[in-house]
Parts: sequence; C-alpha cells; structure tokens
Amino acid sequence: MGGSAGGGRFLVRSAIAYEKGTSSKLEPESYEELVKRRGKMLAPSLAEDWPNLPVVGAQGLYLYGLDGKRYIDFMSAFGVVNVGHNHPAVIAAAREQMEKQVHGAVGVTLHESVLRLAALLPEILPGRLDMFFFGNSGSEAVEGSIKLARNVTKRPGIIAFMGAFHGRTYGAATLTASKAVYRIGLDPFVGGIYHVPYADPYHSSYPDEPEKCVDESINSLEVALKRLVAPSQVAAIIVEPIQGEGGYIVPPKEFLFRLREICTEKDILLIFDEVQSGFGRTGEWFAAQAFGVEPDIMAVAKGIASGFPLGAVCAHQELMSRWEPTVHGTTFGGNPVSCAASVATIETIRREGLLQNARENGKYLLNRLKELKESHRLIGDARGLGLMTAMEFIVPGSDREPNAAAAKSFLNESLSRGMLMYPCGSAGHAVRLAPPLNVTRDQIDEAMKIADESLNALK
Ligand SMILES: Cc1ncc(COP(=O)(O)O)c(C=O)c1O
Repeated sequence: MGGSAGGGRFLVRSAIAYEKGTSSKLEPESYEELVKRRGKMLAPSLAEDWPNLPVVGAQGLYLYGLDGKRYIDFMSAFGVVNVGHNHPAVIAAAREQMEKQVHGAVGVTLHESVLRLAALLPEILPGRLDMFFFGNSGSEAVEGSIKLARNVTKRPGIIAFMGAFHGRTYGAATLTASKAVYRIGLDPFVGGIYHVPYADPYHSSYPDEPEKCVDESINSLEVALKRLVAPSQVAAIIVEPIQGEGGYIVPPKEFLFRLREICTEKDILLIFDEVQSGFGRTGEWFAAQAFGVEPDIMAVAKGIASGFPLGAVCAHQELMSRWEPTVHGTTFGGNPVSCAASVATIETIRREGLLQNARENGKYLLNRLKELKESHRLIGDARGLGLMTAMEFIVPGSDREPNAAAAKSFLNESLSRGMLMYPCGSAGHAVRLAPPLNVTRDQIDEAMKIADESLNALK
C-alpha cells in the first residue's frame, strides 16, 4: 500500500536518513516505512506496547487504520475521548481559541477559557470542590494533589492502595502498585508512601461473601495506622474510587464511606484520583457522586478535554487557598486551547444527555458481558459501572487463576475482527471495555458480536 493509503498523506522528508547515508536520495518517506522503523525512533516502552495500530484518522467511535480498515474503538484512548473522537463541538471550540491564541502561561497572562472552565467545574464536581490548579496530565494532577496535601498539613505520610495506578512521574509512580514492572529500577522512591490492600470483591479471601473485602482492606489500614505510621503523620489517603489500570475494580460503596469516616475522624485528607473514572465514565460526572462520597482533593485529567492535554487538582477554597504561593507552578498547564476544549466537552456531555446514555447503555453492556461470562468458561468475572466495564480471564475451572494468555489472544482476535480493547489487571488478564459515552445499543451489539466470535475462536 502506498504512502497515500487511507488518506494517509503523512509524508516526511527523510533528510536525516539521507544525511546519515541510510537513504540514497532526498525523497518523501511513507508512513508505512516510518511505522517499520518505529522501534529505532520511539522508546521501547512506546514502540513495544500493544498493538501499535497505525491509524490515519478517527471519528466518533471509529478509528481508521493505515491498512484501510475501520476499527471500533472500545477503549477511547484510556477513557479520554468520552464524547467520541473529534467531536465537532470540541474541535470548533479548540479551533476558535487557536485562532485567538494558542498558548499563554497562566499566572503570567489570563485567558477567558481557563476562567470559564474554573467557573463551570464546580457545577459538575462533587460537594464543595471549587478551586483549581490546572496541569497537563493525570500524573501531574496526582503530583499536585499530594504536594497540596503535604504543604497544607506539613505532614509527610501518604497512604495508597495495592493495585493503584496513579501515573508515571516519580511521586505518582511511587503511589502506583498495579504492576511491579512499573517500579523496576526506580529506587529510591519518594519517601513517606505506604500501601494497604484495596477492597476488591472478586479477589476477596471470602469468594462467597465478596463484601467482606471491605473489612479486609479497612482492617489493614487500621493496623497500618497503629503500627506503621501514626495518623498525626499522615497528610492524605489517596484512592481511585474505581481502580482503572489495576483491573477496573469496583469496590463496595461501604469501602469509600469507611475511608471518608476514618479520614474525617483522624484529620487526614481524602484524595480521589478520578483521572480515569471521571467526566461521565461511570454514568455520573464522577465516581464520587455514584458512590455518594466527597473527597477533600480530587485529581482529574483524561476525559476533561477530549484529548487536548489537561489535568486539574481540585479542592475547596478553604483548603486550596492554604497552598503557599509559588510552591507549585507550570508552563503549559491550563493551556487556553485545552481549556476551551474542556468547556465544550462538558457542554456536549450536558447537551447530548450523555450521563444518562452512559448509565443506560452501561447497564446494557454489562448485561451483555455477563451473558458472555455465562457462555465462556474463560471469563471469571464481568464487572463495571456505567461505561467503565471489564471482563477478567481465568484458567477454566480454577479458583480465579489469572489467564493473561487468553486475554491477550482474545484481544488479538478482536483486533483482527476490527475492534480495539486494552488489557488491565496485575497480570494483564482483564480486558477493559470503555467506549465513548455516546455509544449506541447497535454499536454495543456489533462489538459484542465481535467479542463472542473472538471468544469462540479461542476454543
Ligand atoms: C487513575 C489514573 N491516575 C493517573 C493516571 C496518569 O495519567 P497520565 O497518563 O495522564 O499522566 C492514569 C493513567 O492511566 C490513571 O488511570
């Protein structure tokens, strides 16, 4: 297929190759050729990720491959494009802002879009969160959240959970405990961070009484607060209300209630990392509202601006205004184009009734996944909230023994049939399904047909 395949006129002058003598003449290098040598240009952590599907464009639920095929996107770039790829309202808002001004460092100059976003967010955030620090990513929102907690409390300790994924920067990577591989070679980590077990119903030590996972987790937390780190030394407990990368694990509501109680009683700040679960993914604006628990600080990113880089630390004024001036800052954070895209994203979710769609079609999708579980012994669990759903692959007949090989084969089979999903869980043995919030029943049916065929192909 030539360089113009699938509308892919992404050609570059191979001047570097020419200079280096690896190319005999200065001529356009095709996208296909670039794809072939990606392993020499992109760090292995990117070049060897799965599946590295070369695409030439995207619209709504669909990705358009360089191979000329259309792919159903059931991962939404990790829950980023919640209103679908390239939603016209988001693109129009970003374009309008780009024509006015692309960048201006917030704090040095002010922009209407950053203020509009700051004025709009309190309408959708849980409880009293009404003041913001804007950054560029989820990791930065997490870093900002723990820096805020330590700065205002002057305490060093942070408690996080096993299975958590909070990002790749040093503080966020220290908090992360979803896969040991993410921590290889990073020692020494940021100090003062402790991990306790998460409330994971499917992996509870009492499979017949999954809700007992709450006691298992909370008891460990209480032991840690007695034996490991005194509550007076703990700035915050940080938790994903639904674990994302850790396996799309939905804890019983009571878990978050108990965390809230402990934090309030012991004067510890409660941080929710809603980077993946936010902006409508669960059928409410945030998982906090789905569970009815209010954090003191919230980290958000991903779905906030439909793909334009943006993240935010959110807190109530009483707390946020105690963050000492100049202790934290940014060059790109709160970029005017990203903020304009964010306002348009929020308005789109409202105007198109996408929370309701995520609730209704999320239930429908979960029921369809449960049906698949009934007919395929490789699936040990089907779970989720809203359109944040997953299937966990096990060794058939075993006691929940992870089956990463089956998950991987399933993903490859599905991809070959034109559907993209992505693994999660400690061994990559779960598959997350997170379509855009405007996915239709027909599209879910089409996706489930592919999933069923792919499972049959594994037999
Ligand atoms: C819950 C959670 N927190 C933080 C992050 C890090 O976000 P980013 O990759 O934008 O830095 C992620 C990314 O997957 C996430 O899922």
